[in-house]
Amino acid sequence: PSPRLLAFAGSLRAGSYNRRLIPVLAEGARAAGAQVTLIELRDYPLPIYDGDIEAEGLPENALRLQALLGEHDGLLISTPEYNGSMPALVKNTLDWISRPMPGGRSGTTLFADKVAGIVSASPGPLGGLRSLLVLRDALAKLGLIVVPQQVAVGQAADKLHDYGQLDDERAREAVHRVGAAVVRHLKVYTATGANA
Ligand code: FNR
Repeated sequence: PSPRLLAFAGSLRAGSYNRRLIPVLAEGARAAGAQVTLIELRDYPLPIYDGDIEAEGLPENALRLQALLGEHDGLLISTPEYNGSMPALVKNTLDWISRPMPGGRSGTTLFADKVAGIVSASPGPLGGLRSLLVLRDALAKLGLIVVPQQVAVGQAADKLHDYGQLDDERAREAVHRVGAAVVRHLKVYTATGANA
């Protein structure tokens, strides 16, 4: 069976460079044999995490995201960089998913031993590279294996003109390689039963 990957960009705005970039990462993973589910976080609005809200029951969209993650073997994320870190949207989404599911099982178990590939885009020269360090660390703490390959696309305004269109061949190939690396890791895992 082909690996199933859940993909999203960590930005809500229509003209987001990261929303334009995530299909490129998905394309690389699909070319390597994955099935990719590309979602928009706009379709899963969540309040900032609040234990009092949680005490009333997990929000419907947190439940939906937990269910989705449960059906996938890994994650593909394209993240903006805000003040040298990942946006609150990305952290908040991960935090809600990590909460106990109905029945009591920890949401963090949904992440365990899954494989992630991460990229970033920014109009600045560093392409959001610092956000990747923070996101990599956050994902590792949740138990995911984040492949070493990563790409930060700088000068995004000159390169990401449209959805799924990265007008920089070297960067495009590098982003494809991130997707392919995730698939490769998952295939080795499955073959060895290491993630059983
Ligand atoms: C930014 N931006 C930014 N860019 C960057 O390269 N390094 C940074 O530290 C920051 N910090 C930052 C903070 C906040 C609060 C905002 C709103 C923006 C600029 C950012 O890269 C730019 O807005 C991107 O276009 C955001 O990504 P999307 O929405 O295009 O995907």
